[in-house]
Amino acid sequence: MSRNATLAPLPRHIAITMDGNGRWAAERGLARSAGHKAGLEPVRLCVRECARLGVEALTLFAFSSENWSRPAEEVASLMGLFLEAIDREVSDLDNRGVCLRVIGDRRVLSVRLQAQIAAAEQRTANNSGLKLQIAVSYGGRWDIVQAARTLATRCLSGELAVAAIDEDCFAAALELAGLADPDLLIRTGAERRISNFLLWNLAYTELYFCDCLWPEFDAREFAQALAFFAQRERRFGRTSAQQRGLSGPRGS
Ligand code: FPP
Repeated sequence: MSRNATLAPLPRHIAITMDGNGRWAAERGLARSAGHKAGLEPVRLCVRECARLGVEALTLFAFSSENWSRPAEEVASLMGLFLEAIDREVSDLDNRGVCLRVIGDRRVLSVRLQAQIAAAEQRTANNSGLKLQIAVSYGGRWDIVQAARTLATRCLSGELAVAAIDEDCFAAALELAGLADPDLLIRTGAERRISNFLLWNLAYTELYFCDCLWPEFDAREFAQALAFFAQRERRFGRTSAQQRGLSGPRGS
């Protein structure tokens, strides 16, 4: 049996809420920033594993719209970590064929970080491997509101008829436009909630919650999440009997 046999079917798109960095640091008497720094290693692991297995897309929740209200020192250290990580990792991502995109309200980020994100996106834009989305200053409600604004502007300009607005048109105005919805959401850190992540796109996503803290998330934990997904019967609102005779809306 091949190493991946028990993990089939694989999710095409995995979303991850990386929770528990602060608790991991506190347990060791360290500053919260040390937990965030330690959280970079599982990020590398997930990118490597997704690329190796042929997962099409990986979307990571790195900083929420609500995280701006954390202590200024923690926000500053996270922004510094994003700058450092993009700078340090972009060559490796490029070599692995990863296409990087940052989703979220980037206008509120520093000019330097915005420039670095734009350069990294440009450098990896034509890569055909894993599509990696990092959510920074992202909120699911913000995403829906900005999509509504985009569509309203197009209606006011006469380019789009109100009656032409449907689910596909709305999804195309969201940050994950062009990508299949996540098939699997993994959340570490023992919390069982969505916390304003991808509210529209998670409609039919399988939810996997695990107790380990994000810096502890390793290849074994990742394989367990994939094994959980492989056992799910996805019905997309149909009956089980119907689903056995049909494929899902996106072939899953
Ligand atoms: C939530 O844990 C984690 C964050 C707010 C930051 C996540 C960021 C990283 C792992 C760095 C990744 C960097 C890149 C470039 C992808 P928490 O602080 O809320 O943990 P707690 O619940 O234990 O306090």
